[in-house]
Amino acid sequence: MAGACPPGGRPTWVEVDLEAIRSNVRRFRAQLAPETALMAIVKADGYGHGATPVAQAALAAGAQWLGVAMVEEGLRLRQAGLSSPMLILGQSVKEQMTAAVRAGIDLTVADREGLAEVARAAEEVGSPAFVHLKVDTGMGRLGVWWEAVDEDWIAALTRDSRVRWRGIFTHFADSDGDPEYTRLQYQRFLDVLERVRRARALPPLVHLANSAAALQFPGTQGDMVRVGLGLYGLKPYPGAEGLRPALAWYSQVVYLKTVPAQFSVGYGRTYRTPAALKLATIPVGYADGYRRGWSNRAQVLIRGRRYPVVGRVSMDQIVVAIPLSDPVAVGDRVTLLGRDGPEEITAEEMAAWIDTISYEVVTGISGRVPRCYRGNS
Ligand SMILES: Cc1ncc(COP(=O)(O)O)c(C=O)c1O
Repeated sequence: MAGACPPGGRPTWVEVDLEAIRSNVRRFRAQLAPETALMAIVKADGYGHGATPVAQAALAAGAQWLGVAMVEEGLRLRQAGLSSPMLILGQSVKEQMTAAVRAGIDLTVADREGLAEVARAAEEVGSPAFVHLKVDTGMGRLGVWWEAVDEDWIAALTRDSRVRWRGIFTHFADSDGDPEYTRLQYQRFLDVLERVRRARALPPLVHLANSAAALQFPGTQGDMVRVGLGLYGLKPYPGAEGLRPALAWYSQVVYLKTVPAQFSVGYGRTYRTPAALKLATIPVGYADGYRRGWSNRAQVLIRGRRYPVVGRVSMDQIVVAIPLSDPVAVGDRVTLLGRDGPEEITAEEMAAWIDTISYEVVTGISGRVPRCYRGNS
């Protein structure tokens, strides 16, 4: 059972709303054919939200599969009691394949050596290994180049009794940006599928769409969609509607002082007060994933109002400037990410402060920040 909120201990924490996760799964399910499966992508500790509680919530709301990046992540979910179908999306090293096969976790294969190693792992375990062929249709990363999926490959995947070919998939490089390129990747993938179909070898699960593609290009939904960002209520593309952000990040004013004009703040003295004001110290820093790049750029919410982070973000603390007339007090809650009254700071906004993406903001919140959960059903 995931911990209740607030978690106690240090006054800086993350709250995850599991009802938002369930609502986001339902939002995707409403766009899918009933027979289309939904894989909840819970790699990187559930995009920083906590893989186990998110996985439980997603499965309860209608997801069927879990997707993770690496074997450790899959085994941790199995140890937590999650027995649903699961796929390792990345390339596994041979030393770890046996553990994955033993745990009943499907593996991605992208070259013949990898396939041979999976077969050896299955032999060692004494039960077949389930594999998904990853096809590179233009991401230029892990995957067999689409033109190279030939009869030999198909034979290798179908004629070895130690291996069961369960899925074939690709991944879009720009489904939130370039529809033309997405269409090109889709066409290439259809071409591969046609070759496999002609050999009467089509595996049961054809999957290609991530969050953005599942919503914007419904034709790409296939037998299963792999939903990451949207599961957490983050916008897979600007203007995406109907998703509820699940994560909020809070801290507290722990110290307050009044200073005169021209008072310098923080390492390197990068900020000087333009007038007398109050400086609030907040116990969060770059060791928590509150990025140093946000120095003199970020804002936080206190009592429903926005205040600037001034001076450099240090390892464990930030400083916020408060006008003398504002009634901010020690003990006030500080919203680093989330809503407070009329104001909201989103992961997308925090990403824009340093020209990154919301994925990096939420996965970057470090393990030092305790997580707690609302909406347990
Ligand atoms: C192979 C694969 N599929 C699906 C996803 C989920 O993508 P998104 O978070 O954009 O929905 C990812 C995430 O990076 C991925 O690597």
